[in-house]
Amino acid sequence: MCRAHLIAPSVLSADFGRLHEEVRAAEAAGADWLHLDVMDGHFVPNLTMGPDVVKAIRRATSLPLDVHMMVSDPGRYAPRFIDVGADWVSIHYEACPEPRGVLADIRTRGARPSLAVSPDTPVAVVAPSARDLDMVLVMSVHPGFGGQKFLPGSLAKLEDARRLRDRLGLGFLIEVDGGVTVENAEAAARAGADVLVAGTAVFGATDYATAITAMRQAGAAAAAPA
Ligand code: DX5
Ligand code: ZN
Repeated sequence: MCRAHLIAPSVLSADFGRLHEEVRAAEAAGADWLHLDVMDGHFVPNLTMGPDVVKAIRRATSLPLDVHMMVSDPGRYAPRFIDVGADWVSIHYEACPEPRGVLADIRTRGARPSLAVSPDTPVAVVAPSARDLDMVLVMSVHPGFGGQKFLPGSLAKLEDARRLRDRLGLGFLIEVDGGVTVENAEAAARAGADVLVAGTAVFGATDYATAITAMRQAGAAAAAPA
């Protein structure tokens, strides 16, 4: 089966002083989802947005909101983000090594559960909860900041995620996040990524539509027979 790749601009690289316009511009440029990075200054050494900001973004767009929780206590805070409109919620394995209860709670509250793995965590940790997931997020930079360089070892991890999905006969999406550019998007898609998160590559571009279209084409090139 061949699925179209989804492009999810990460709002972390947007101009926060013009958030409403930036969100609308990403939507007009063809974004499939919006990726929202929530950081608590504890799980990662950075602070970003809370539920009130997500609520404001929800009012600005009808795109699916993909909330990536880089927080130490995701079980406590995920409901707050679902209440204000999160459609997808990723929690980190490193913050929650027994994630099945939190993932089930996310689903019960009406959002799609996802498990994220940081660069030093093998994808195999996802296996015990794979049946409870709608997505696996493979981090291709160390979480905490936008604008970092794609770690090449992430390609093998995307392949691992795809093999795991095939082996278990499941249908979860595979998302890649961190340092994704027009140049490496095809390799990431070929390795297994269905959802390409891109912060700097979209919001740092002079023309968002050109960047998003180029990424979508890179995904399509990866899906085409060699
Ligand atoms: C990093 C975040 C990423 C980041 C992506 O912790 O999870 O979503 O914002 O930004 P770029 O594409 O600039 O690496
Ligand atoms: Zn992210």
